[in-house]
Amino acid sequence: MAIERTFSIIKPDAVAKNHIGAIYNRFESAGLKIIASKMVHLSKEQAEGFYAEHSARPFFGALVSFMTSGPVMVQVLEGENAVLANREIMGATNPAEAARGTLRADYAASIDENAVHGSDAVESAAREIAYFFSAEEVCPRTR
Ligand code: TYD
Ligand code: MG
Repeated sequence: MAIERTFSIIKPDAVAKNHIGAIYNRFESAGLKIIASKMVHLSKEQAEGFYAEHSARPFFGALVSFMTSGPVMVQVLEGENAVLANREIMGATNPAEAARGTLRADYAASIDENAVHGSDAVESAAREIAYFFSAEEVCPRTR
C-alpha cells in the first residue's frame, strides 16, 4: 500500500450549510489524516487557474462563479492510496449517480454544486497542493 497525499476542497455550498465538521469526520473515520487546512474565499483568478483544464467546457463560467460565491475549506489528506480513497469517499461527480453514503450523495444538490473536490491522480494532487499551500503549511504527523 502506498502512502499518498491528495488535495481536497469543501466547496461553498457545503461550507454554507455547515457541513465542514461532518465532512472532516468522514475523512478521519476513513483513516485519512488532515495534514494542512485553511479557509479561503477564492478570487476569480484563483478559481480560473485552479480549474484551467476545464476552461473550454460550457460549464466553466458557472463553475468559477460558484467556486467564488463564498468561502471554501482547502485541505491536504494523507493516507494509504489517499487519492482513490478520497474519490471513493466523495462519490460520483453527479450526486444523482453517487453511491449511497458518499459525500456527494449526502451533501450535494446537483452536478454543478457538488460539495467537494478531490484530486484525480497523484500528479494532479501534487500540483493542486502546491497551488494552495507552501511547504511549511503542510504538517505531516510526528506521532
Ligand atoms: P470534473 O473534474 O469532471 O469532476 P470531479 O469534480 O468529480 O473531478 O469536473 C470538475 C467540476 O466541474 C465538477 O466537480 C463540477 C463541475 N461540472 C459541472 O458543473 N458540470 C458538468 O457537466 C461537469 C462534468 C462538471
Ligand atoms: Mg476533476
